[in-house]
Amino acid sequence: MLSARRTSSSPAQACAPAHGARRLRRCLGGLGLLAWMLAAMPAPAWASEADVRAAQLVQRMPPEALHQLVQSYAMMGLKRQPPGSVGAAGYVSAQPAYGIPALQENDAGVGVNNYPIDVDARGWPIGVRGAAGAATPLPSPLGMAASWNPRLAYAGGAMIAGEARAQGINLLLAGGVNLAREPRNGRNFEYFGEDPLLAGSMAGAEVRGIQSQHVISTVKHFLLNAQETDRLALSADLGERAMRESDLFAFELAIEQGHPGAVMCGYNKVNGIYDCSNAHLLNDVLKRDWKYPGWVMTDWGADHGVSDALAGVDQVSGEDYADGAQGDGSFGAPLMRAIASHALPYARLQDMAQRVLRSMIANGLLDAAPAPKPLDALADAQVAQNVAAQTLVLLKNASGQLPLEAGVRHIALIGGHADVGVLSGGGSAQVWPIGGAAIKPEHPDLHDSASPWVVYDPSSPLQALRQRLPQTRIDYDDGRRPARAAALAKSADVAIVFATQWAAEGIDLPDLGLPEHQDALIEAVAAANPHTVVVLETGGAVRMPWLGKVAAVLEAWYPGARGGEAIADALSGAADPAGRLPTSFPQDESQLPRPRIGADDAVDYDIEGVAVGYKWFDRQRSTPLFAFGYGLSYTHFGYAHLQLAKQDGRVTARFEVSNDGDRAGVDTPQLYVDMPPESGEAPRRLAGFGKIALRPGERRTLSLSIDPRLFAVFDAATDRWRIGAGRYTVELGHSSRELVLHDDIALSAASLAP
Ligand code: GLC
Repeated sequence: MLSARRTSSSPAQACAPAHGARRLRRCLGGLGLLAWMLAAMPAPAWASEADVRAAQLVQRMPPEALHQLVQSYAMMGLKRQPPGSVGAAGYVSAQPAYGIPALQENDAGVGVNNYPIDVDARGWPIGVRGAAGAATPLPSPLGMAASWNPRLAYAGGAMIAGEARAQGINLLLAGGVNLAREPRNGRNFEYFGEDPLLAGSMAGAEVRGIQSQHVISTVKHFLLNAQETDRLALSADLGERAMRESDLFAFELAIEQGHPGAVMCGYNKVNGIYDCSNAHLLNDVLKRDWKYPGWVMTDWGADHGVSDALAGVDQVSGEDYADGAQGDGSFGAPLMRAIASHALPYARLQDMAQRVLRSMIANGLLDAAPAPKPLDALADAQVAQNVAAQTLVLLKNASGQLPLEAGVRHIALIGGHADVGVLSGGGSAQVWPIGGAAIKPEHPDLHDSASPWVVYDPSSPLQALRQRLPQTRIDYDDGRRPARAAALAKSADVAIVFATQWAAEGIDLPDLGLPEHQDALIEAVAAANPHTVVVLETGGAVRMPWLGKVAAVLEAWYPGARGGEAIADALSGAADPAGRLPTSFPQDESQLPRPRIGADDAVDYDIEGVAVGYKWFDRQRSTPLFAFGYGLSYTHFGYAHLQLAKQDGRVTARFEVSNDGDRAGVDTPQLYVDMPPESGEAPRRLAGFGKIALRPGERRTLSLSIDPRLFAVFDAATDRWRIGAGRYTVELGHSSRELVLHDDIALSAASLAP
């Protein structure tokens, strides 16, 4: 039941529908709704013409029109769509009388998921939008994060939004920015890693790219949806200071940098209160402290009653279209009853509608109707390949095993379905690729799980490598029989084993091991050929018990529509592996804050608190298998002349990067702030990063500005960021564990708004 206090009727309440529509219009007309709205909510710094237009529009709309905006209907998978619906995950019908188009809310961050509604005679999915529904998958967001290049995230976002818009979709449920707090989380591939600065910057850039195409983007899942096990009921327990400095900070940066039209609250609880009923997170943090002007939508079915409207939810997602607006869902008839009984102020319904409309207006949805047009598959695939090229992380390269020499005569290429495709992640982020999945669903290797199919994108590393090494004999073995694979490897100059780990929404990984005896396959091949290269297509960190026995390891994540080509370019040396780890790779699960994923009703994230990922390893003084920020290049880079200075109230770091090798390469210099031991913080935190391509012998100076919050701790007692007076050391390095230069600077005490 609603817990709203009975307040003396505010002007808006005096105009509530209970007093009849005529009086309502009269009241509102004289009320100056906009003044009320802005008085009730201090105009955010980014209050724009969209907010004014939305407030004026709301003023003209009767209650039932406002009500129509606060629920979306799940239309994916329906074979017959009502007029106006394109079959998206969420649909809000149009209101032509007010110039408001339908909202077509579709998944997601990898590309347009066109939800299979049937399979054809070959067993292949037919998308909800038929052949036109096939789309171009980007590399996974975790892979994008490995590029440490926001410009690529922007370009990728713009591409998938162009494909969305071409299919009549005007909102992408992208922008997943939950921190990889739990390395076994089945959805880590959908997010941007373990550090708030990197994740927030990459997510914000993808959101900006999406919205550049007049498609609204979201950020999700607010907050602390760090695992899939028990996600509908689990309480993620974490203290306020740790939350503000980690998971909340990632969202804060993504929202500041991307201005997403919407935020999606998640399924789980935080400190015992459901995300979508959590007034502290939604009203206090998101809307009051951060002055967020857009709207909060629930995850699909994540609402818990009409009182969520008082907690800060503006739109309930995933209702049943057949029920219509007056269905008994949280924001259906119950909401209008709550308005009529004053349990829910009418002005709150106006505010809910205002938030939806201002984001639609801000992103041009009321001014630029979607223009359905055929996809430019080649151009879009090239964008995906450009992104993939910078996501690949070279983890080991003993004796310069890679790049493959042009003269190599014979290569054994083994496993991972590398003859036909590259792996992608499952669940709502799944993209059904143009050209169809590379392997039919009934293939014996494909096992049913949360998602009906394990989809391989039709981009063959084998074919791509043959094109790049036309003089080289390359034999493929599917790897199902290690002895046979080993025999082939023995006969070749080099053996390349592709190992895959499928991850998906709805299920977590049982452990960090490679599934289905792939470790044994790698061991057998490495025993047969010392020049063994392992290419990993995984959803995140994995254990590598065979690491000492192989010559090279390349992490390719889920590399998207042209993943095979990108991998072949890296293996053949046509491109320098430019990726750096966005998430630490533990030696094994014993190094983690929790030996196994909690299947209980609560997970105590205060064990690590703010020390997520590398911060945990630093605090525990333990050594991961591979550190956050780590990655090799075919050349090597030097750093010199690090100098800190104060400029416009910020600390800037200037330094020189040089390519000291004989090949062109791409480097990712990283800055870390060392926190004073007495601060109670983890030893260091990422404070800045660059991306620079250099020719052999070239050197260039970079200047990076450091957000002051990276020197601060969050003081929950006063709701402020606080910088303690003192000298701070900033380190420059190739990873969180390879820091080569440092400088320090004196800062005076400061307090910053949240
Ligand atoms: C979900 C997912 C969310 C997705 C939504 C719509 O259950 O958690 O990420 O956007 O459904 O498909």
